Amino acid sequence: MANANRVYIFDTTLRDAEQTPGASLTVREKLEVAHQLARLKVDIIEAGFPVSSNEDFEAVRRIGQEVAGPVICGLARAVPKDIERAGAALQDAPRPRIHTFIGTSDIHLAGQLRKGREEVLEMAVAAVEQAKSYCCDVEFSPMDAARTEPNYLNEIIAATIAAGATTINIPDTVGYSVPAEFGALIAQIIDQVPNSDDAIISVHCHDDLGMAVINTLAAIKNGARQAECTINGLGERAGNASLEEIVMALKTRQDYFGFDTEVVSEEIIPTSRLVSRLMGIAVQPNKAIVGANAFAHSSGIHQDGVLKQRDTFEIMDPKDVGLEATEIVLTARSGRAALRHRLEVLGYELNKEELDKVYEDFVELADKKKEVFDEDLIEIVGDSDEATAYYELQYLHSVSGTGTVPSATVRLRIGDETVQQSSWGDGPVDAAYAAIGLACGTEVRLDNYAIRAITSGSQALGEVTVHLSDNGEKARGRGVSTDVIEASARAYVDALNRLKAKSAKEEHPTV
Ligand code: KIV
Ligand code: ZN
Repeated sequence: MANANRVYIFDTTLRDAEQTPGASLTVREKLEVAHQLARLKVDIIEAGFPVSSNEDFEAVRRIGQEVAGPVICGLARAVPKDIERAGAALQDAPRPRIHTFIGTSDIHLAGQLRKGREEVLEMAVAAVEQAKSYCCDVEFSPMDAARTEPNYLNEIIAATIAAGATTINIPDTVGYSVPAEFGALIAQIIDQVPNSDDAIISVHCHDDLGMAVINTLAAIKNGARQAECTINGLGERAGNASLEEIVMALKTRQDYFGFDTEVVSEEIIPTSRLVSRLMGIAVQPNKAIVGANAFAHSSGIHQDGVLKQRDTFEIMDPKDVGLEATEIVLTARSGRAALRHRLEVLGYELNKEELDKVYEDFVELADKKKEVFDEDLIEIVGDSDEATAYYELQYLHSVSGTGTVPSATVRLRIGDETVQQSSWGDGPVDAAYAAIGLACGTEVRLDNYAIRAITSGSQALGEVTVHLSDNGEKARGRGVSTDVIEASARAYVDALNRLKAKSAKEEHPTV
């Protein structure tokens, strides 16, 4: 992995971002994201934290087996059982990496680990040595490096490189650093650690002060050659450095930075939308690169300029981030071949039975809304395994109107049984939720409800996202339909399914 002008992109959407409350994904969803990250051509996918749960283990194992191209990485604390689990999850991956970490700042040593510097250094070295027995590609992170005493930081970096670490990642775990300081930290590590040339220096910045991307770029300017980041900047608390911002900054300002990545930038928008949809976290409209307004010009002077010559007010071509790739529209007259072709362009390879099911849903939707956009197709494909869930909404009838008491009747398949219930509420959604609650015998709390139109026009698909909690356990659900009451009910049932799946999962540590 050595190329002087290359910055390696390490995506941790499936690990750091997936820890966001309510954003957890199923194994199938993680695989979908990982396949898309491979199309985006990131260099490394951090697929999960295998010791944290059986689901995470399974996700890392299957991504390692099924996703070709990138290095697949599993996270492990610097303790033997974590490294053993990561090694086992990655045993069939053609390009495995174990990423092991331990806190090194005095605050972490005294406040969390209750250990001295010497002991932590020994644990780090032992962890790297153990990881090396599973694979040759080993990354070590001194967690909270930005607040670690520099001499100790250099000592632990030198010792872990000597033990075999091939990448040293410098995390600004709490988003505390500022660009000049973080850049200087990287420069001093490269200068002062005698064997620093034997490893790639990586950075992992959090966005608590809104400086994750700029700190990452400052580090690259000072010698870092791997950037850890996430799609849409999602992640713990305020999030991680945003992949799309780093990649497009390096590409657009190649003249200033002088570095390239291998990322296929045209896949940025499809990846951003997939992650937003699966994690149920909308992208803020003014977000750089991927926000709905990132390429929208509203001022008359700007519109005039762009129409005359695009680069008067646009520093990037929207096509370069994949913005115009979604303009193809299918209608009820489009046949199976056109549908298959469009799905292939979107990255779906379906077998005959899957295509038949998707085609049926496509015709039903095309009859309702005339034009079917890529976003609609992605929804249809995403919904096609609903029947395997524990709760399935089979029927919904809702009544509402001025001067009417809103009421709803639902029929659900619950496991192998069918249950029907009716109820009333403050509005049609409230009534439908009350009826579903009665049918399922659950009393969960609705923490958040959001609705948006996926495509344009009054026949557009409505997307509802809900966040539910039950005894401290949180889950998100999504529902899509041209009928927003049905979309609301589907979102609720989806979240109940996720809560149900979580209740079967063991307790797990997070970072
Ligand atoms: O923020 C952090 O320090 C981490 C480490 C595990 C790299 O996520
Ligand atoms: Zn992190």
